[in-house]
Amino acid sequence: MLVKQLNNLKHLVQDMTEDSLGRPLKDLRISITDRCNFRCNYCMPPDQFSNNHEFLPRSEILSFEDITLIVKSMLSLGLKKVRITGGEPLLRKDICTLISMIRECDSDLDIALTTNGSLLSKFADDLAKSGLDRVTVSIDAIDDKMVREISNSNVSSQEIVDGIIAAKNSGLKVKVNTVVIKDFNENQIIPLVELFYRMRVTVRFIEYMDVGGTRDWNPNQVVFGEEMRRIIERGIGTLSPVKDSQYGEVANRWCLEDGYQIGFIESISKPFCNSCTRARISANGSIYTCLFSEHGHDLKSLIKMGAESKDLTDAIAAVWGKREDRYSEIRQTITSKSKPVQMHFIGG
Ligand code: GTP
Ligand code: 5AD
Ligand code: SF4
Ligand code: SF4
Repeated sequence: MLVKQLNNLKHLVQDMTEDSLGRPLKDLRISITDRCNFRCNYCMPPDQFSNNHEFLPRSEILSFEDITLIVKSMLSLGLKKVRITGGEPLLRKDICTLISMIRECDSDLDIALTTNGSLLSKFADDLAKSGLDRVTVSIDAIDDKMVREISNSNVSSQEIVDGIIAAKNSGLKVKVNTVVIKDFNENQIIPLVELFYRMRVTVRFIEYMDVGGTRDWNPNQVVFGEEMRRIIERGIGTLSPVKDSQYGEVANRWCLEDGYQIGFIESISKPFCNSCTRARISANGSIYTCLFSEHGHDLKSLIKMGAESKDLTDAIAAVWGKREDRYSEIRQTITSKSKPVQMHFIGG
């Protein structure tokens, strides 16, 4: 009896790894490659990421074993969700093996993947079989010309939509993310809602952020969630707020009259740092405690020096315990920010 009580207590204590602002560590986003087959203007502008661009050499990228060790080491800190990102994660060879290895760490872990969708038709079945729960697919337009203009690739919106259909058919839960940029793709909001309404897939519209990789960002390019909702209400119908949001959820959900939900990720107009439970691992194995961090903490070197799971747990707990990031809440007061980490390197 006493042992059971002690174990329960231990569990409680372990699940309470909080940062200096009282936020628990629940999510880990792992970038498994810094490469991408797209060159989105706001993330990897083609003039900066030409064919000669030097991506990380293989030797610097975390191995599947390293990644699995990091995930294992964080379970006792309260980790509940792992998101695999990139670059484009489906470019990493044998990605399904990695998913199975992470799944073996914990059968209850929520495992998701963020992708640009271009290779999803090919991988959907195997991803589902290897234990992936969910995919989030980025698509910024239905209009092909616009898709190509944003992504600087030859992909068509139909190829991405086919990937979404394949993922649904494989039993994966699917969400769609759309970054909205002023005077560029606002006119795609309605066609995107109409398409995903028919497919019964949740779409989430993201306010354009000043995240690393984004050059020449200025606040005038942001379409606030409020404006996006006005566009939907004018073109489709009344929206009502959905109240039952979970702690740490980044999207504010609204629904049409028949209950279909649309998400708005309003990190510029309504920052959500006060409930931010996310840590990020870059492709070369550093941990970052904010999407806008300038520096990470090198876990890969610790692993190379022979660190075991428990050592990583202690190191990560120490980093998290000191965390005081809340960039989105204070961006207006920051005058001289040095270069934040690039989005394709740390994942979205
Ligand atoms: P779900 O588990 O599906 O709710 O995932 P999620 O919403 O955590 O992840 P997703 O990758 O779909 O996030 C959507 C987008 O929200 C990202 O691509 C970013 O643009 C933005 N975002 C996610 N996390 C953060 C964050 O911690 N800070 C900020 N400022 N933006 C974020
Ligand atoms: N602002 C908002 N979202 C962004 N993403 C990439 N760059 C930005 C930005 N500057 C999104 C992508 C994708 C996810 C990985 O991050 O569109 O949905
Ligand atoms: Fe575009 Fe995502 Fe690739 Fe960046 S990582 S270039 S946002 S597809
Ligand atoms: Fe979290 Fe940093 Fe985004 Fe705030 S700005 S929500 S602290 S990742």
